[in-house]
Amino acid sequence: MSEFALEVESLVKVYASRGKAPVRAVDGMSFRVPRGIIFGLLGPNGAGKSTLLRMLTTLTRPTEGTAKILGYDAVKKPLEVRKRISSVIQETAVELFLSVKDNLLTYARFQGLDKAMAARRASALIEEFQLGAEVDRKVQDLSGGFRRRVQVAKVFMVETPVLFLDEFSTGMDPILKRQMMNRLRAEVEKGRTIILTTQVLSEAEDLCDDILIINKGKQIARGDLNTLKLLSQGVYDITLAFDCLPETIAAEVATLVPIRSSIDANTIDLTIKTEEGRVMEIVSALSRDRRVLRVEVRGASLEDIFVELTTQEGKDIA
Ligand SMILES: Nc1ncnc2c1ncn2[C@@H]1O[C@H](COP(=O)(O)OP(=O)(O)OP(=O)(O)O)[C@@H](O)[C@H]1O
Ligand SMILES: [Mg+2]
Repeated sequence: MSEFALEVESLVKVYASRGKAPVRAVDGMSFRVPRGIIFGLLGPNGAGKSTLLRMLTTLTRPTEGTAKILGYDAVKKPLEVRKRISSVIQETAVELFLSVKDNLLTYARFQGLDKAMAARRASALIEEFQLGAEVDRKVQDLSGGFRRRVQVAKVFMVETPVLFLDEFSTGMDPILKRQMMNRLRAEVEKGRTIILTTQVLSEAEDLCDDILIINKGKQIARGDLNTLKLLSQGVYDITLAFDCLPETIAAEVATLVPIRSSIDANTIDLTIKTEEGRVMEIVSALSRDRRVLRVEVRGASLEDIFVELTTQEGKDIA
């Protein structure tokens, strides 16, 4: 078997519909993902994350290029690929007319699991996902968050080596989300590979061993969190809380050309790219002759890096 979970080569997906300009949703991506890690795909809305996952999970055919999953080509060997993956895709339909329990059992049987094993796993997952009270209800009657639980619980019914999760935590409450993150970690320790997309950057920061940032169908940056932080060295978050918000503060902040800034009541937050030595100069200029209640300076978070990298035009360093 291939040592790589994924091998993507010059992959392109163009959506063409009559009367409209074609959309290059994935515009020439090439990357590999080793087995046994959590790989995060990050990018703003419309970046191409779901399209990429749809090609990797054989739901959509690439326009150009190739994608291999555990060495099997997604176009030439779709059945071999499907046997080895399970996925929660953004618009994955749960079987709305089936109960929670039957959703799990049907999925397991479809994946070739024997009946006794399926029943055992379904009970364990119903407990883990706190679906006990909903077990006999039709999925169409559940709230969005509970539907999501059923979708995610399904992929744990089987032990496929590769898991694809498109924004798995949408609609989950923080406790369940935390529990899921621990669960995903444990699955990887058992040797599975997880490919996930997320908009929740703290989630990527906590979970992913390796991150690919994409924007407008192209790769922007790749690496573990520390590498990405290095790429974005010199990005700082500054918070200043004033006794009384100075009238001219918005204009003063604007002259610093921050990556982003916000003013809330008496507090300003700004993210700025500058040399280390300038940070304290900026802080003292903004606080001169003013009563400052709180000052905080932090190094870049993944969110800062994300904003900086995805707002730069034409920078392609992946
Ligand atoms: N079936 C389709 N037909 C036409 N265009 C599409 C289709 N699916 C996606 N697109 C377009 O392709 C681009 C990428 O969409 P995609 O859904 O892959 O982005 P995404 O990164 O998953 O976004 P989000 O964070 O909002 O889920 C967008 O411009 C989108 O409008
Ligand atoms: Mg998407």
